Amino acid sequence: MAILDSFRLDGQIALVTGAARGLGWEMAQALAEAGARVLLHGRTSEAVQPRAAELVSRGLAADSVGFDMSGTAAVERAMDMLLARHGRIDILLNNVGERDRRSVQRIEPEDFDRLVAVDLGAVYRLIKRVMPGMIERRHGRIISVTSIVDQHAANGSPSYTAAKGGLAALTRALAAELGRHGITCNAIAPGFFATETNATMTQGEPGAQRARRVPLNRWAEPKEIAGAALLLASPAGSYINGHTLVVDGGISATYDML
Ligand SMILES: NC(=O)c1ccc[n+]([C@@H]2O[C@H](COP(=O)([O-])OP(=O)(O)OC[C@H]3O[C@@H](n4cnc5c(N)ncnc54)[C@H](OP(=O)(O)O)[C@@H]3O)[C@@H](O)[C@H]2O)c1
Repeated sequence: MAILDSFRLDGQIALVTGAARGLGWEMAQALAEAGARVLLHGRTSEAVQPRAAELVSRGLAADSVGFDMSGTAAVERAMDMLLARHGRIDILLNNVGERDRRSVQRIEPEDFDRLVAVDLGAVYRLIKRVMPGMIERRHGRIISVTSIVDQHAANGSPSYTAAKGGLAALTRALAAELGRHGITCNAIAPGFFATETNATMTQGEPGAQRARRVPLNRWAEPKEIAGAALLLASPAGSYINGHTLVVDGGISATYDML
């Protein structure tokens, strides 16, 4: 296979969670442009349907699905429906992530539990549902979006840091367990991305100061995540397994981190 062809995803079905905006939307577009049928997930189907329609209008294959990742029954019901409708999922891209910036002293135990359930527990549930089919077909790609806090903690956000660290560890555990079935499990750890969620953080002197700490000296554009996702989803990344691909402009390589 020619090297550029090895980035193609023709005939593959990919589920991308949290695809209505931000990094999820960028990665969903990349997988669709590479030829996959992309199932775009949002909190509700209505929230993400315009994005799916946009891809279809560009001649790409896309569909939408809505469910709240905090509801275990909703996750199970939606996966039943998706698997019945599409038959299989070849690529699972776990992008949903909530962040709570309250310190250990301020966050309530139930809020800590809820965030870990969304950022880590729900991912486990999705994996458990797509895994049997992947094992049967001896092919699958599981990619989870963590964060540079999966290795380095900032002051604050203990629930987010714990969940993302757990997700990185789960990725390694799955790689160890599922590799023999032809399934690769990897993570992407973004640094400072100028997504809608971070809009206020990018502004003014605090935003500029944060950018100066990054060796590339700037915030990342959301679309700069897409290449990493495509590499890990496609035959080009076939021997990458159990890896966390850091996409952070070099910040975590420095001692100026966080
Ligand atoms: N941006 C960064 O600099 C950065 C850095 C490190 C890691 N990350 C990680 O990268 C991922 C994407 O980041 P982003 O900046 O693109 O975030 P974002 O803009 O906040 O997007 C997150 C998406 O997840 C959805 N979502 C959140 N909670 C949900 C729930 N309970 N059920 C269903 N959907 C839910 C959101 O839906 P709604 O639109 O309905 O809220 C949104 O579409 C996250 O996992 C984040 O932790 C981002």
